[in-house]
Amino acid sequence: MSVRRLADDAVQPKSFAFSRENAAWAKKRIALYPKGRQQSAVIPLLMRVQDQEGWISRAAIEKVASMLDMPTIRVLEVATFYTQFQLQPVGTRAHVQVCGTTPCMLRGAEELRAVCKKKIHEQPHQTNADGTMSWEEVECMGACVNAPMVAIGHDTYEDLTPERLEEILDAFERGEGDSVPTGPQNGRNHSAPVTGQTTLLEVPERKLEAPARSMPAASAAKAGNAAKGARPGSKVIGGGTGRKSGAAAAKPEAGALFVRPEGEPDDLKMISGVGPVLEGKLNALGVTRFEQVAAFSREDIEALDDALSFKGRIDRDEWLKQAAALAIGPDEYFKVFGKKAKVNKPAAKKNAGRTSSGE
Ligand code: FES
Repeated sequence: MSVRRLADDAVQPKSFAFSRENAAWAKKRIALYPKGRQQSAVIPLLMRVQDQEGWISRAAIEKVASMLDMPTIRVLEVATFYTQFQLQPVGTRAHVQVCGTTPCMLRGAEELRAVCKKKIHEQPHQTNADGTMSWEEVECMGACVNAPMVAIGHDTYEDLTPERLEEILDAFERGEGDSVPTGPQNGRNHSAPVTGQTTLLEVPERKLEAPARSMPAASAAKAGNAAKGARPGSKVIGGGTGRKSGAAAAKPEAGALFVRPEGEPDDLKMISGVGPVLEGKLNALGVTRFEQVAAFSREDIEALDDALSFKGRIDRDEWLKQAAALAIGPDEYFKVFGKKAKVNKPAAKKNAGRTSSGE
């Protein structure tokens, strides 16, 4: 292990303070430990510092030591021992941790490292010219089956190619990191075999009940056609996508591909892979509801691929499957994907009201 030292004085801030929210969190966290054992909160507090600032400064170490009533040297020992703690300033938009252990190395980690060198900085632990990005090589992060991979913040991006990593870094550089789907980047389901699932092939009947809000008549008329695009084993909820062709009554607005459903739009950003920009484009094309996305036909997907110029992304990010789950509610999303749906304020508040029974 290399020697880990605090950053040069030139970059050390004069003071550190937790934000109001984090200070309240720290207070609660410290109270979890029995009297006299508050020092056990040192690692959680240092992690919170890092989540807030991106790295651990000397001032932050002193602050944590005073909060826990422990000698500064003891906190310094912890911060310098665990490599999860960054001791230098990191990129303000992304700090990329490239796994360089054997499975990832055999599957292309060196090419990923070359991408970081090219796009961020020749040396690890150095920020790019704008201070927005930085990178380092780390040891195994436990996602070897989906090698090669990187971690950015608390998320991992797996089954990477150099090209895909470049796209991801560009998205973070633009400040659109939230729109990048986490996990496998090659369409595989979690750590299922890359050549396709070989077990548990029968899809259990999943009962999806229609949400309380009704779809417009034109969308309902398209339901049969749109259902062809729904995921296997799922039932299309509420109606079709409302594309123009074959719709009996309503017509899409000028410039739109789909008949915009009546009522309040869903927060489409909850679909992993959809950010604010993409949501705006989808809304302009008449797509505002999870039920619409869940019922996309192949024809709809191709039309959207053309309109949005991102071939294959709807399939790769499993929009239909995500939307079908989100139409029921966050609980269903968690059941299907094993992780929480994205939360965006304030629209997520509305969707969070849905339950697995579709209420
Ligand atoms: S070797 Fe890279 S995640 Fe394990």
